[in-house]
Amino acid sequence: MTQNLSSGGNALQRCIVRACSATYRLNERLYTCRRCGGLLEVESFFSGVDSAEWRRLWSARRASLETKDRSGVWRYRELLPFPNHVPIVSLAEGNTPLYDAPRAAGYCGLSGLRLKHQGCNPTGSFKDTGMTTAVTQAVLLGARTVVCASTGNTSASLAAYAARAELACAILVPEGQVSSAKLAQSLDYGARVLEIEGNFDTAMRAVRELSEDESIYLVNSINPFRIEGQKTVAAELMEQMDWQVPDHLVVPGGNLGNSSAFGKGFSELRTLRLIKRLPRLHIIQAEGAAPLAHYFDRNHPEQNDEDDLVPIENPKTLATAIKIGAPVSWQKAWAAVRRTNGQVLTVTESEIADAKAIIGRDGIGCEPASATTVAGIRKLVAQGVIAGEESVVAVLTGHILKDPDYVTKYHLGQLTLDREGEAPRPIEGKFTNRPTRVQADVASILRALS
Ligand code: F0G
Repeated sequence: MTQNLSSGGNALQRCIVRACSATYRLNERLYTCRRCGGLLEVESFFSGVDSAEWRRLWSARRASLETKDRSGVWRYRELLPFPNHVPIVSLAEGNTPLYDAPRAAGYCGLSGLRLKHQGCNPTGSFKDTGMTTAVTQAVLLGARTVVCASTGNTSASLAAYAARAELACAILVPEGQVSSAKLAQSLDYGARVLEIEGNFDTAMRAVRELSEDESIYLVNSINPFRIEGQKTVAAELMEQMDWQVPDHLVVPGGNLGNSSAFGKGFSELRTLRLIKRLPRLHIIQAEGAAPLAHYFDRNHPEQNDEDDLVPIENPKTLATAIKIGAPVSWQKAWAAVRRTNGQVLTVTESEIADAKAIIGRDGIGCEPASATTVAGIRKLVAQGVIAGEESVVAVLTGHILKDPDYVTKYHLGQLTLDREGEAPRPIEGKFTNRPTRVQADVASILRALS
């Protein structure tokens, strides 16, 4: 039933629905439980763990020239459900910076704020940390075609890793709703790009049906092997913080794979006694695409009377990466919020846009979805959930060049919100920075600068 791992332990796939808890071997090509339809997760049984030795080993690998050690995901391979000898598909992902952001901290009302910039991955988003493991698993399973639905980043990442593995790749994206930079990546990496009518949720439904075909392997974050790679970011972050757990960890929420992965990553680190406590995990959603935040409001974590998540039919946000109304991994993300006494809240389009610009003033660029974190932290500080002196880490998920149109429109005052039944309204940014047209002579330039 189980398979030997790099850690010396074993692992299997288990249904997260407690009443079911069905188990499957790692090499079964599944996305949901065959018995009850629940989400699956990898369960690892680590054995003979010497946490001090693992920390030393992970740190020592930084100086190694081996491909597996250069990757900021496979460097932590003792946490991953793969035997040591498997050939990996890697683009040297992970190893992303943790920045201090004093201006953003001041904006939020904090004495300090750190930004874990997952946009500094090979294809410019956090997706690479999960794609390396999911595409490695695809190769192990003998898949010939890999597919995903995407708002642009998953598809760019999959296209790149599929190209590395020489697998055929098809991506389904909502037509006209993906930034041209992200689309350009998928085209260049050679994926078949299928633009479909509808939104991300429509595309997601279509790929789930498509993946019933045995020759096609689905690598959206419903795939538990994606989550396994993404969870290693918790270990990398802790290593960067000398294993001092932050009080709060704040992530954007879309399809909710990333928050699920952080939840799993931190829980495992605690089980392994690599850390003593968990950070509070807060998830921030855009106001017009916030099904989990609405669910949170209805089911406060202290209560037990949970109902089902109500999907949003027609999600709306200019942060197109998280324009999602029916997140597939919501139960896992919800469990992580409950376990860590976290919150789920919404931020407005203006709040996202200004937060993005203030992050920029620290010399750190990110895409709009990532900036929900700083906007959310500001609200949590104002509400007294986060105290000014506490240690806070925000996860930036995508690179600024993923959506340059949004950035220039913001600074030119051309970013507009379309709400049903209302005329389009421009967002008035607090930190706009317009370019100035000037004659090419010294006097004019000096006048413009004065
Ligand atoms: N930030 C960025 C930049 C993203 O691309 C995404 C998701 C998220 C945050 C939300 O993460 O879905 O794990 O909750 N992008 C997916 C995509 C949906 O297709 O690229 P999540």
